[in-house]
Amino acid sequence: MTHDNAAVLLSVHDVKVAYGGIQAVKGVSLEVREGELVSLIGSNGAGKTTTMKAITGLLPLGGGHIQLAGKTIDGQGPWDLVQQGLAMVPEGRGVFTRMTIVENLQMGAYIRDDNAAIADDIERVFTTFPRLKERRDQLAGTMSGGEQQMLAMGRALMSRPKVLLLDEPSMGLSPIMVDKIFEVIQEVSAQGVTILLVEQNASRALQIADRGYVMESGLITLSGDAHEMLHDPKVREAYLGE
Ligand SMILES: Nc1ncnc2c1ncn2[C@@H]1O[C@H](COP(=O)(O)OP(=O)(O)O)[C@@H](O)[C@H]1O
Ligand SMILES: [Mg+2]
Repeated sequence: MTHDNAAVLLSVHDVKVAYGGIQAVKGVSLEVREGELVSLIGSNGAGKTTTMKAITGLLPLGGGHIQLAGKTIDGQGPWDLVQQGLAMVPEGRGVFTRMTIVENLQMGAYIRDDNAAIADDIERVFTTFPRLKERRDQLAGTMSGGEQQMLAMGRALMSRPKVLLLDEPSMGLSPIMVDKIFEVIQEVSAQGVTILLVEQNASRALQIADRGYVMESGLITLSGDAHEMLHDPKVREAYLGE
């Protein structure tokens, strides 16, 4: 599906981020349109997580601008950004291990006070992730990595985000769970949620995406239609290990 005419929801323009004197992100620009699934791929250390943390206000910008739904959000903290519709599932998931599944989902709705709608949304999350429903009263810490990843995604969806950012959701999961996670990301995308997906698993990430960006050493080195990138021999050789 093409989203060329859809509104740009997230716009990252020439963003730079440094850790002390070390420039980890050197001027990154990308955009995500309403309804799109965009994959940001690149090897370990390329600067993907740093870019995500800059977008979500966890790291200060050393330069550049970020807009969400046309509004500049530079310098705002994570709390304000969730309220404006930006939700992130961080690398390593970060679920509340000593809380139950349902409690974790309720935490995801902490910015909301529409209790009836929250209950409906929990049921909707259970439809997308039936595994969570079976374990609704179980402590999150007792679930497998893949189940925790699903919970983290479900929790992020509970804030009804305009844009969902996923940082390496397949990391550390068994091959079967990796399949399942990519399936479920596709399903959430099909439900209309706009997604920016960061992945080292480049080929899988491009398979489910509308468009892709490749990041290397703090810069975007390539971008385009995900399907074309996937079938470009140069991309395959350089980034997909073929
Ligand atoms: N907290 C930090 N302090 C110093 N350097 C960091 C920190 N986090 C990441 N880096 C460095 O920034 C670069 C980009 O890292 P990161 O954004 O985590 O890459 P990716 O997510 O693509 O694997 C790497 O060289 C990494 O070592
Ligand atoms: Mg990372």
